[in-house]
Amino acid sequence: MKKIVILTGAGISAESGLGTFRDKDGVWSQYDLEEVATPEGFFRNPEKVHHFYNMRRANAMAAQPNAAHDALARLERDWPGQVILVTQNIDDLHERAGHQRVIHMHGELMEAKCAACDAHWPAPERMRASDPCPECGELSTRPDIVWFGEIPYDMDLIEKHLTQCDVFASVGTSGQVYPAAGFVLQANAMGAHTVELNLEPSELSGMFEERHEGPASEIVPDWVEALLSRP
Ligand code: APR
Repeated sequence: MKKIVILTGAGISAESGLGTFRDKDGVWSQYDLEEVATPEGFFRNPEKVHHFYNMRRANAMAAQPNAAHDALARLERDWPGQVILVTQNIDDLHERAGHQRVIHMHGELMEAKCAACDAHWPAPERMRASDPCPECGELSTRPDIVWFGEIPYDMDLIEKHLTQCDVFASVGTSGQVYPAAGFVLQANAMGAHTVELNLEPSELSGMFEERHEGPASEIVPDWVEALLSRP
């Protein structure tokens, strides 16, 4: 049975009220990513970075999964073959929609880690630079988020899935940040059928064999319904 690999980006959570990054009034038009999403920015001003992610964590906790998250969880449950979900998003809306296995290549808002001993633990609602690491006691706790200049998580696993997939679908991402933006190239090289589901054409739209344009809460359930009606 066909193996489906799905990549999601901020666009899938947009209708849940969580901002995207590069749309008009997006997160990077309100914050300087150098200050809040790089190791150098964290070193310079950890309190500012904690404040940024505390605010995003509170927004994510107040948000609800939308019909697109629900549809992908349904596909994982009802598709007779393997469904692998890779997300660039740090919110937990896929999990709260019932998705069992989510690969968070950019980390998770609900996780914390120690920059000194690399311990990981569930993030408190509000993190502070003065919080000592529960393992080593160092004042080096940080959100478990992959910042610009850092290596995304699970790349070997993701590459393995991409070499084996029959269908690669990209949902709600502008295709401007690598390595995620390169996944469609790998899928094409492996002869997979490639599908883009996005509000508007992305940087990479020309790389996809099939494209659906519109809000994720509408086009993703339609795409899943069509897949399940002819597995
Ligand atoms: N439905 C579907 N797509 C949407 C919707 C919607 N309701 N609203 C916006 N989009 C699309 C936009 O057209 C855009 O192509 O979602 C995409 C969002 O793109 P970005 O804001 O660049 O977000 P993303 O692609 O996830 O960014 C990738 O960059 O800042 C880093 O680590 C961060 O994971 C993030 C990465």
